Amino acid sequence: MCGIVGYIGKKEAAPIILDGLARLEYRGYDSAGMAVFDGEKVNITKTVGRLKVLEELTHGGETMPGFSGIGHTRWATHGAPSNSNSHPHFNKDKTIMVVHNGIIENYIPLRNKLIKKGYEFVSETDTEVVAQMLDYYHKGDPLETILKVLNRIEGSYALGIMFTDHPGEIFAARKGSPLIAGQSKDGCFIASDVPAILRYTRTVYFVEEQEIVRLGEDRMRFYTMDEEEVEKEPVTIEWDADAAEKAGYEHFMLKEMYEQPKTIADTIAPRIQKDKIEIEELGLSDEEIRAVRKVHIVACGSAYHAGVTGKYVLEGLARIPVEVDLASEFRYRDPILEEGAMVIAISQSGETADTLAAIRESKRKGFRVLGIVNVVGSSIAREADNVMYTWAGPEIAVATTKAYSAQLVALYLLAVKFASVRKTIDGALYASLLRDLKRLPDQVELLLNNKEKIQHFANRYIGARDVFFIGRGIDYAISLEGSLKLKEISYIHSEAYAAGELKHGTISLIEEGTLVAAVSTQPALYQKIISNMVEVKARGAFLLAVTNEGNREIEKVSDYVIYIPETNPFFANSLAIIPLQLFGYYVAVGKGCDVDKPRNLAKSVTVE
Ligand code: G6P
Repeated sequence: MCGIVGYIGKKEAAPIILDGLARLEYRGYDSAGMAVFDGEKVNITKTVGRLKVLEELTHGGETMPGFSGIGHTRWATHGAPSNSNSHPHFNKDKTIMVVHNGIIENYIPLRNKLIKKGYEFVSETDTEVVAQMLDYYHKGDPLETILKVLNRIEGSYALGIMFTDHPGEIFAARKGSPLIAGQSKDGCFIASDVPAILRYTRTVYFVEEQEIVRLGEDRMRFYTMDEEEVEKEPVTIEWDADAAEKAGYEHFMLKEMYEQPKTIADTIAPRIQKDKIEIEELGLSDEEIRAVRKVHIVACGSAYHAGVTGKYVLEGLARIPVEVDLASEFRYRDPILEEGAMVIAISQSGETADTLAAIRESKRKGFRVLGIVNVVGSSIAREADNVMYTWAGPEIAVATTKAYSAQLVALYLLAVKFASVRKTIDGALYASLLRDLKRLPDQVELLLNNKEKIQHFANRYIGARDVFFIGRGIDYAISLEGSLKLKEISYIHSEAYAAGELKHGTISLIEEGTLVAAVSTQPALYQKIISNMVEVKARGAFLLAVTNEGNREIEKVSDYVIYIPETNPFFANSLAIIPLQLFGYYVAVGKGCDVDKPRNLAKSVTVE
């Protein structure tokens, strides 16, 4: 998982590439590098470490003059982070340079063949084989050379390529890894993602699977694998360029948490018209909605947690059985999909390899897939049969907050819509659910504005070794996400448990002072969770409760209580998660962790 940027045009390439890479650091940040061509000589600088190191080494790009170049920010897969494993990779004569995102699966046999032919390899990466193969096949026509190589490599790639015998051009290609191209009056760009080039242009082309791009200073052309030129329509990106910046917050994560009221409102508002839920992009008639017998939700990480909540909400309101799978499990378990099954894939990035594979598996079995996706034009958005976008805008912090919140409300909308069409709820409940949905943004805002209380509490837990999150039903789904937020950014071991399951083993881990966060937003289960809280308290646990306003009884067993405003219990996740996000965030800040870029993690997991 890496980020690539390329530029060719009238301006100095290096500063543009560095700037673009800075906006892609969420894709990988263990090494960085770039190659810039001044028409005669190629300058290559690459280094292990953050992009900052590359910036320093090149004095912000000043030491690398030239009007065309390619750059890379790496998240290691094949070969540990090191200078030699950093991209760009090149042939012996440094006449061909390559940056790559993805994995070349058959690189070992290909490398062995080239070694037999006298090629020497200087890195442990899968990517270097592409550079050397390009050298082996290059007879002067770059497009022909690239096609020969693409026809021989297996796996996934977004590639940026430069040939010194074609000084006025850069080439790119993609299969299974994201790639966009853009054009401004000053030049042409390629990048792994839109924010990398937004500062320079809003005119963007989404490169399709197995397409090749040929960029010149003032035009770009797209080709199929049969070398046929394709006409493409550009898309105008409407995002505010500032939307991809920190806007004064200390971290992207905090900024994104504060964007949640807007994100939720933006996701809900276009789908409620005249007090009715209309989800046109669903592509299902009322009759088809009534014919759904089962829903299969597939996703990874936080999107999976949103899916777990979706199960409770869809089953509870629309009375449809729902199975939720981790996409990485679903893809290999030969899932049983029967007539009337509907598959929902949830993904922020729209590029998660396992989720994409789960979609392909479902389609192969003949089932339609609805994508709930944040990134417009992403692979999942393109491969799903229908797409319901979450309008969260670009999310930069690795730990998701606003996209997760948007996924939740997208699922609520679906559930309420299905419930009304299937007549499993009456008109009065429908109206009150809609009212509660519309109130969510203000309620989230209120919780965010009361952050001091949780901040103060979090400071006491900076030294914690283990934290447990417990809940039942939807509260269990909330616990899963609350626990993930804490552990992924603060590196404190935490686990989420269905509260009733604790006594089957985990309770033995509770010691004097262990923090247990009990989530209790479901009135029907208040008494049950209180019993579980009493059980852990008797073993010395310190109890934090997150519960509804008015649930005073919980105070008797809790050491600290955070109240959330009143809403329909089916929507409580959207509110209860806010203090838990803030808790994880402030613990991590207190520990001095790199909140936006936690170790070993990447924002978009485009490899298996
Ligand atoms: C990574 C991210 C998570 C995210 C998961 C699924 O692990 O760090 O925040 O939930 O991937 O990503 P997706 O883009 O498919 O939602």
